[in-house]
Amino acid sequence: MADLADIIRSRHSERVAYDPERRPPDADLQAIIEAARWAPTAHNMQNFEIIVVDDTAVLAGIGRVRGGTSAEFIRENYAQLSFTEEELIAKGTGLLATMFPPSWRQPEAPPDGPAGRPDLEHGFLDETMRSCPVVLIVVYDTRKRAPASEGDVLGLISLGCVLENMWLTAESLGMGLQVMSVFSSVQAAEQLRRILSIPAHMEIAYACRLGYPAAGPGRYLRVRRPSQRFTHRNTFAAQSSQPGSRLG
Ligand SMILES: Cc1cc2nc3c(=O)[nH]c(=O)nc-3n(C[C@H](O)[C@H](O)[C@H](O)COP(=O)(O)O)c2cc1C
Repeated sequence: MADLADIIRSRHSERVAYDPERRPPDADLQAIIEAARWAPTAHNMQNFEIIVVDDTAVLAGIGRVRGGTSAEFIRENYAQLSFTEEELIAKGTGLLATMFPPSWRQPEAPPDGPAGRPDLEHGFLDETMRSCPVVLIVVYDTRKRAPASEGDVLGLISLGCVLENMWLTAESLGMGLQVMSVFSSVQAAEQLRRILSIPAHMEIAYACRLGYPAAGPGRYLRVRRPSQRFTHRNTFAAQSSQPGSRLG
C-alpha cells in the first residue's frame, strides 16, 4: 500500500525533451499496455484501442502535423493560470502562467481568433513530442456509448481509467509520460486520422508521449488542494478553505 501511495504521489507530467535514442524496452511497453487492458470501464465495454507509434518515420510524419488552438482554449486556459508561485500554492489548482508562451497568458484571444497568428497557434506536433521515442494514441468508437450515459460521460471516465493505469505503470517503471491533448484538436486529428489510417468512426481521446528525459527529469511546482477542501462529511454544506500545498 505504501508503494502504491508513493507511485500515486510521484506520478507526474514529464514535459522535458526525451532522449530519442533511449527506447523503452518492449517488456515495459507491454506492461503499460497490460495495465490499460485491466482498467475498469463502464459495463466492461473496453471501448478503446491503442495505437503504439515507435517507427521513426511515422513519428516524423506525425511531428509535421500542425496542432490547433482556439479562442476558447486561450480564454479557458487563462482562467486556470497563476502568475506567482505563492498564488498557485494558495489556490492549490491550476498551472503556473510561465509554463505557457507569453501570447497565451492573456484573458481573451484577438477578436478575429487565433487562426493564422503564429504566436497564438500551437506549433507543429514535434514541438510537443520533443524527440520522444514512443507515442501512444488512445482512440475510441464513437458509435458506442455506455448504456444510457448522456454524452457517453461514463465511457469518457473509462478512458481516464485507462490513462491512469498506464501512467502509474510508467511511473513505477521510471518512464516519463506526458499527455498531449493537442492530438485530439480538430486540426491535428484530421491529419493524424489520415497518417495512421484511423477509421471515421474512431475518435482520438488523447495521446501520451513516453520516454526518458534527455537531461534529467524536469522539476516544476506541483500543487494540490488539501483533502479537507474537497471532502464533505455527511453533508455538502460543510467545507474547509485551507490553502493548497506543494508536492514538488
Ligand atoms: C485528460 C488530461 C489531459 C491533459 N492534457 C495535457 C496536455 O495537453 N499537455 C500537458 O502538458 N499536460 C496535460 N495534462 C496533464 C495535466 O496538466 C497534469 O496532470 C496536471 O497539471 C497535474 O500535474 P501532474 O501530472 O504533474 O501531477 C493532461 C492531463 C489529463 C488528465
